[in-house]
Amino acid sequence: MDHFLYRDGALYAEDVPVAEIAAAVGTPFYVYSTATLLRHYRLFDEALDGVPHLVCYAMKAAGNLAILKTLAEAGAGMDVVSQGEYLRARAAGVPGEKIVFSGVGKTAEEMRTALTGGIRQFNVESEPEMELLNAVALSLGTVAPITIRVNPDVDAKTHAKIATGKSENKFGIPISRARAVYAHAARLPGLKVVGIDVHIGSQLTDLAPFEQAYAKVAELTEALRADGHGIDRLDLGGGLGIPYTRSNVAPPLPTDYGAMIKRTLGHLGCEIEIEPGRLIAGNAGLLVSSVIFVKSGEGRDFLILDAAMNDLIRPAMYDAHHDIIPVVEPAPGTEQRPYDVVGPVCETGDTFARGRDLPPVKSGDLVAFRSAGAYGAAMASEYNARPLVPEVLVKGDQFAVIRRRPTFDEMINRDSLPSWL
Ligand code: LLP
Repeated sequence: MDHFLYRDGALYAEDVPVAEIAAAVGTPFYVYSTATLLRHYRLFDEALDGVPHLVCYAMKAAGNLAILKTLAEAGAGMDVVSQGEYLRARAAGVPGEKIVFSGVGKTAEEMRTALTGGIRQFNVESEPEMELLNAVALSLGTVAPITIRVNPDVDAKTHAKIATGKSENKFGIPISRARAVYAHAARLPGLKVVGIDVHIGSQLTDLAPFEQAYAKVAELTEALRADGHGIDRLDLGGGLGIPYTRSNVAPPLPTDYGAMIKRTLGHLGCEIEIEPGRLIAGNAGLLVSSVIFVKSGEGRDFLILDAAMNDLIRPAMYDAHHDIIPVVEPAPGTEQRPYDVVGPVCETGDTFARGRDLPPVKSGDLVAFRSAGAYGAAMASEYNARPLVPEVLVKGDQFAVIRRRPTFDEMINRDSLPSWL
C-alpha cells in the first residue's frame, strides 16, 4: 500500500497534487511519501512485536537525510555500508548504538570512524577483516562488538546480481567454517562476539529461502553457544521483496516474515535485528518525468522522457519493471497503445520499457514511475553531464525539496584544471 493515488483525475502524493510539485521544482524529480515510509517501517516493527528487536533501515536504498531522520524519529536503527553512510546516519541524528556496519570491504579509516563515533556492531565478513578490526580497536584502546556474517549457501531465487547467499557469492564466510572462524575471533582481544549475521539477497518474493537460511542460523547458534560464545543477537539482513506491478502476485508481507522469524528463531532468546531497505522505501517513492517527444519509429512509437538511465538505472541494470502511469488520470475506457519508453542518454540501454501499453501521451505530459523510492535516487549518476535530479518529501499537504538540483556551474566547477592548461 502507498499514498500515491488519483483524486479527481489527478495523481496525488498524499495530499499534494504531483503536478503542483512538478510546477515548483521542474522535472525530473523523485518524490517520497512520509506516511508510506513510516507505515512500512512500523509494519516491520510490529511484525517482531513480542521479541526484543531493532529494525535497522538499509539506508543504501534511499539515503537522503530527511528520509533517515523521518525513520530515526520513529525509532529505526540503520544498516550502513560505508563511512559516508555512517556519517549521514549520524548527521540525521541516529545514535551509534543503533547503527550496524555491513560490507565486505571496510577500510581501517571506516572502522576508526565508527569505533570513535559509536557503533552497535560490525558485521564482519572475513578473517582478514577480523584481524584488521582487532588491530584498529586495540590501537584505539577499545573493543569492537562483532557478529560474523555467514554465507548459508541458499538460493534466494532472485536476480543473479542481487543474490548474496550462495557459496559462489563474495559475501560472508562459508557456514561450514563458522565454528573455526568464531574460535579465531574469540582469541582476538580487540573483538567481542555478540551474535551472527546473515543476508541472502534482495527482492525475495518467497519466504522459503529465508527460512532455510534462518534454520541454519538457529542450528549454528546452538553449536556456537556450546563452544562457549555469547550469541545474543541475530542480524537477519534485509531482502523482503515488493510488488513492482499491480497485477502480479504480491510477495509475503512483513507480518508473515515476522511470524516465520519467531517460529524459526524465537526459542533462542536472541535479540533480532533486520535490515530492510527496499520494502521501506521502494513503494514510498515516485520518479516524475516529462515527455519530451513522441517519435514514430519503424513499427513502434518511442516515448522520449526527460528522465534517463542515469536517474533510474534499475531497468538497464536488472531488466527491472517499473509501472509508468500518467499524472493526469486517463478517462475511463481510454484506449492504450504500446510505446518504447526511453530517455535522452546516448545508448540503447537507456530504455525503461519496450512495448509498454499506455494511454496516448504527448509532448509536455507528466508521467510517474512507480516503486522508484528504493535504489532510484541512491543509484543515480551524472552520466551525460545530467544533473542529479532533486528529491522532494511530502507530508500530508506539505512538501519540501530535500535535495535541490545542482546548477550547471556547480557541476562544472567541481572539476579543476592542472597548472599546464
Ligand atoms: N543488508 C545488506 C547487508 C544488504 O546488502 C542489503 C542490500 C540490504 C540489507 C537491504 O536489502 P533490501 O531489503 O533492500 O532488499 N540495487 C539493487 C538492490 C541491491 C541490494 C543490495 N543489498 C536493486 O535495485 O534491485
